[in-house]
Amino acid sequence: MLVRDARESDLPEILAIHNHAIAETTAIWDTELADLAERQAWFAARAAAGCPVLVAEIDGAVAGYASYGQFRPKSGYRFSVENSVYVSERFHRRGVAKALMVELLLRARRGGVHTMIAAIESSNTISVTLHEKFGFQVVGQLPEVGHKFGRWMDLTLMQLTLPDGVASQR
Ligand SMILES: CC(C)(COP(=O)(O)OP(=O)(O)OC[C@H]1O[C@@H](n2cnc3c(N)ncnc32)[C@H](O)[C@@H]1OP(=O)(O)O)[C@@H](O)C(=O)NCCC(=O)NCCS
Repeated sequence: MLVRDARESDLPEILAIHNHAIAETTAIWDTELADLAERQAWFAARAAAGCPVLVAEIDGAVAGYASYGQFRPKSGYRFSVENSVYVSERFHRRGVAKALMVELLLRARRGGVHTMIAAIESSNTISVTLHEKFGFQVVGQLPEVGHKFGRWMDLTLMQLTLPDGVASQR
């Protein structure tokens, strides 16, 4: 497995993983599928903000991707990011998410991120467990803030404050 920065040419495979999560899961709370133009705009915005988009490549295929962006748009949040990690179903349970998270946290520390937040649909125990393995702690529960597939969804907020975050020094 190779974890590397995503390239524009990875976007069709990223789109397929993204749209599967929209269509089949409550991991992404969109109810309409995305298209390539939307992913291109997302990718360009992440690059412009200096935020990484990583892919895990296995046998030449994009097995999963991970990224982070500023937690909320106001400048006071500039040292706080929200992460995302998605793995293609055919590569589940092979350590892809863990490999992506290791590199994403490395990039975050290098990039001066102070704290990373994971916003997870509360029944997604796999993602909660994944984040716990990296030291994230549950810091909040928002009941019934989402609606998809005919039911209310709760949001679990998890947080990891990075040891060498620079915000405390500024
Ligand atoms: C959550 C997700 C990213 C995990 O990806 P993955 O590559 O299969 O995960 P890994 O193989 O790296 O496993 C990481 C840990 O997650 C947990 N985990 C993963 N799959 C699991 C499963 N089917 N059952 C229970 N725990 C599981 C385990 O704790 C695992 O650690 P371990 O292998 O040491 O036991 C993947 O299931 C996914 O893309 N799901 C849909 C999108 C999603 O929920 N993204 C997160 C949004 S917040």
